[in-house]
Amino acid sequence: MTAQETTENAAPSPAPDLSATPVGRTVRSVAHGRAVVPVTRDPDGVDPRVSAAPLLPGTARAVYDDVCAGTFDATTRFDYLFPGLRDDPAAHLPSGEADVPRVLAALNKLGEAMVEPAGPDPARDSTVPAVYTYWGQFIDHDITLNTNGRDTTGDPASGDLVLGDIVDEPFRVVPPDTVVASLHNGRHPALNLDSVYGSGPVLPGEPGHGTTRSEASYATSDPIKLALGRVATTPIPGFALVEPGADPQRDLPRFSAAQVAGLVGAPEELPKAGDPKIPDARNDENLVVGQFQVGMIRFHNAVVDWVRHHEPEHVGDRAVFDRARQLVRHHYQWLVVNDYLRTLTAPGVLDQVLLGDRLLFAPPFPIAMPLEFATAGFRFGHSMVRGAYDFNVNFTGGGAGGVATLVQLFQFTGGGGLGAPDGARGDVLPSNWPIEWPRFVRKGDLLTVRAARKIDPFLAASLADLRNEGNDPGLADGVRAMLKHLARRNLVRGYWLSLPTGEKVAEALGVAPLTTAQLTANAAPEVGEALAELGATPLWYYVLKEAEAQGNGNFLGEVGSRILAETFVYLLRQDEGSYLHAEGGAWSPAAGVRFDDGRMLTTLVDLQRFAGVLPLPDGSFRQVEGEPAGHDGD
Ligand code: HEM
Repeated sequence: MTAQETTENAAPSPAPDLSATPVGRTVRSVAHGRAVVPVTRDPDGVDPRVSAAPLLPGTARAVYDDVCAGTFDATTRFDYLFPGLRDDPAAHLPSGEADVPRVLAALNKLGEAMVEPAGPDPARDSTVPAVYTYWGQFIDHDITLNTNGRDTTGDPASGDLVLGDIVDEPFRVVPPDTVVASLHNGRHPALNLDSVYGSGPVLPGEPGHGTTRSEASYATSDPIKLALGRVATTPIPGFALVEPGADPQRDLPRFSAAQVAGLVGAPEELPKAGDPKIPDARNDENLVVGQFQVGMIRFHNAVVDWVRHHEPEHVGDRAVFDRARQLVRHHYQWLVVNDYLRTLTAPGVLDQVLLGDRLLFAPPFPIAMPLEFATAGFRFGHSMVRGAYDFNVNFTGGGAGGVATLVQLFQFTGGGGLGAPDGARGDVLPSNWPIEWPRFVRKGDLLTVRAARKIDPFLAASLADLRNEGNDPGLADGVRAMLKHLARRNLVRGYWLSLPTGEKVAEALGVAPLTTAQLTANAAPEVGEALAELGATPLWYYVLKEAEAQGNGNFLGEVGSRILAETFVYLLRQDEGSYLHAEGGAWSPAAGVRFDDGRMLTTLVDLQRFAGVLPLPDGSFRQVEGEPAGHDGD
């Protein structure tokens, strides 16, 4: 697909061969608000093969060649889930020049009213274990990127519009056709774990071996395993070692100070000590999602060992890797449907969609991501974030460090400096910080402090002052404050991208919209005032309020559940490599890896046990040939 084609709203005729879009192409190390790959058309520009920029995956080389040849757009598309609402002014918040200031003021007022009061309030704890929050964030990072900041992928030379950002003055709502034509998703929208695998390893003897950055994510001595970082196996004075204390492979792989010292290049392009060697740096944004990725890396490594032992018909590293990655993807996808979605959507909705033969989403470019999902529906997870966590033996009520605050969980990342207790910027996670998953995963845990916060229109107070966001001194104070305030930012983002309102989406689904009384129940007066000023309800707020009203904050309501179910089932049907297409459509964990006693993996808990990061029912951690399961072999 050429950049010129991306400017056209209708599908070009004849349709481009989108099946040629390689699965697993990722762009570059990214963070919220950071631009997606500004690929150059200038053949004299920086060649990703030699650039020292952090973790441009190996795909970048192919992308670079494609872009120079004008043959390939590395990014994918967004489109609207409800095309019938797209061009209907009555389905949107008013966007005329005269309307914009008052709509923005009302959105900001609504966002301010969405901050939960500081301090614990067990009434706002859900019955959902806390891991589901960060599993959601991990899923998000696998499939969508770029509704969150300035899109620099546009190529004005070929007519593609550069959209700007919500921080630009004057603010203007982007018309839907422009959004569809010019906003680019930095992820392949498939549950293919490109955030873990990048473009895969390039093995000795294969073309390009030794030249791609994707290889940084893989182990050295066994290059079909994914690399892990090492934490110390000695305690920090005053803190306990986190079980199993003798297992060091419990951090993301990271650039060491010594590695960084040897690199040459533009300072802003060079990685810093402690930066993660993973394809999507957002998975080092906070310590819980980072530790979740560690679990997925170890799961892959454990599956490699399983394939070697149980499926000797796969001969050679390439065959074993491909088979292991396929099994990992199938298990993960099956669990997203049968554990994650079944936990968080309203009973019955998922099966209606799974068993039905028609889906709502039918974009002209089939490899696309629905905007109503990325910009509203799937941001429901923001309300599940806690201000403090019972994290491990050290960071718990009465532990040496007390409960772990959300701010700490952002500090103990590459971006946060991985600060050791002495305050030094480190390049590896201190040994008092690995997660203890039993505190995050047990359904029915009586300690509500271990649960996610309810899915409702309230966000943890620290999400109104995001530590790592809005720090650009070049921006006006008011703009920086908005970027630091997640609720305001989400609402303004939805407005900017011309999302339909909650009421209209409900109608389009044949669901009775929530009434004003329902939308304002238990809310501060400012909520009612803001909604009255807007004349309709922003979709993100609607989905959260609906979950409170219909799911008691423990699962999504009808509209939110449909948006998730329609999106995930579409992504899985669209991806020919997904489990829905395997074994003649009958793939289940019965066709996957097994525990030594023959048990299948039917929950996330099973996956983590298999990976050696969560204890087995007898309290031990799974071993493979005397080694902890999931190790990288280096
Ligand atoms: C501590 C936790 C989290 C923080 C601080 C955080 C922060 C952010 C920020 C700053 C953005 C960009 C906002 C914008 O300008 O539009 C964003 C986007 C997003 N977040 Fe979160 N988030 C967190 C957890 C989650 C969770 C748990 C989920 C889902 C279950 C989620 C789903 C999303 C989605 C779908 C996007 C849009 C991504 C894209 O298309 O680029 N986030 N988040």
